Amino acid sequence: MLVLMFVMVCGVYICSVCLKQIGGHPTVRLLSYPMAERACDVADIEPSEKPYVHFPKPESFNREECACNPVRYFAILSTQRSGSGWFETLLNSHMNISSNGEIFSVKVRRSNISTIVETLDKIYNLDWFTSASKNECTAAVGLKWMLNQGLMQHHEEIVEYFNAKGVSAIFLFRRNLLRRMISILANSFDQNAKLLNGTHKSHVHSTHDAKILASYKPVVNASLLIPNLRQVEDLVNKSMEYFKSTRHIILYYEDIINNRTKLVDVQNFLRVPLRDLSSRQVKIHKGSLSSQVENWGDIEKALEGTHYQSYLHEDYKL
Ligand SMILES: *[C@@H]1O[C@H](CO)[C@@H](O)[C@H](O)[C@H]1NC(C)=O
Ligand SMILES: *[C@@H]1O[C@H](CO)[C@@H](O)[C@H](O)[C@H]1NC(C)=O
Ligand SMILES: *[C@@H]1O[C@H](CO)[C@@H](O)[C@H](O)[C@H]1NC(C)=O
Ligand SMILES: *[C@@H]1O[C@H](CO)[C@@H](O)[C@H](O)[C@H]1NC(C)=O
Ligand SMILES: *[C@@H]1O[C@H](CO)[C@@H](O)[C@H](O)[C@H]1NC(C)=O
Ligand SMILES: *[C@@H]1O[C@H](CO)[C@@H](O)[C@H](O)[C@H]1NC(C)=O
Repeated sequence: MLVLMFVMVCGVYICSVCLKQIGGHPTVRLLSYPMAERACDVADIEPSEKPYVHFPKPESFNREECACNPVRYFAILSTQRSGSGWFETLLNSHMNISSNGEIFSVKVRRSNISTIVETLDKIYNLDWFTSASKNECTAAVGLKWMLNQGLMQHHEEIVEYFNAKGVSAIFLFRRNLLRRMISILANSFDQNAKLLNGTHKSHVHSTHDAKILASYKPVVNASLLIPNLRQVEDLVNKSMEYFKSTRHIILYYEDIINNRTKLVDVQNFLRVPLRDLSSRQVKIHKGSLSSQVENWGDIEKALEGTHYQSYLHEDYKL
């Protein structure tokens, strides 16, 4: 009888231990899961920085050891022929920056605000693949966005998105809008002329190719000059007004050429570790402006004494 009772007590005891262990598992899981999530909540991020810090969970891959490295979102807001292609190659030479190019040059992506938001969500979730994607250890992800690619048209919703998601804006403009105009004329001429062995190039990697492209000297329509310059200036002013409530930095192409410390400012703005940034791109139009156009005399006459006369003078040396 004693032995039987001993066996029964033993049995009940073993059973209860077993049940405890089986029942224990789910509670352990439930506890450990939020702990893993909470581990990304880096304590040393300043409260003012919190809206701009993200820990994306891409659907297409795993961020592995960098899962808890904070990621910042940015957008380069610019106009064509303002050095943004060159600027983007500089950013992409940084191992932790991924700037995915002119995503909204494709019309369907900017057809309405829902397609824009859908595209942005995918980029910022690191699920957009281009040659610039860095994946796991990306610390700043973004794109290049021209003002005429739906940005001004849908500015209210886009500003709302930027502020809700903590997207930082990098304005990149050119101070000398006359140089920009000449670059546009030459670039659109090359779209048909295709000076480089029959292929159209907007950016080049050798001085030889740059010389060929610069050999074309456009004629600037002097009577349209002032209205055109005013229109671009107005667009640039409006964009800064629209996006002034976002976290932003304003850069000028000429300033970056004259002073590479500006690239330190950009890296600080994006809160990425400081690196030397480099680009293989070669500037196409060099030297004095007067030698780059056919009708310099007309241009001088049109701009002398106006708000735009400073554009006639040299503003950087290479
Ligand atoms: C937005 O554009 C896409 C693609 O053009 C279209 O399929 C969709 O129906 C549009 N949505 C709205 C709300 O207009
Ligand atoms: C930058 O990338 C390197 C290499 O991929 C990685 O080890 C490092 O943690 C990244 N830095 C940040 C701030 O994410
Ligand atoms: C274009 O032509 C030049 C000579 O004018 C040559 O050196 C270069 O390799 C050519 N490039 C391509 C892409 O064919
Ligand atoms: C300049 O543009 C105006 C308006 O489009 C045009 O009437 C005029 O013929 C153009 N002038 C030249 C020299 O092309
Ligand atoms: C753009 O802003 C600048 C600086 O605030 C101002 O001098 C200029 O007149 C403005 N241009 C236009 C076309 O509104
Ligand atoms: C270069 O840029 C840095 C950072 O914006 C600035 O502090 C410095 O004064 C600039 N140097 C010159 C010579 O303009």
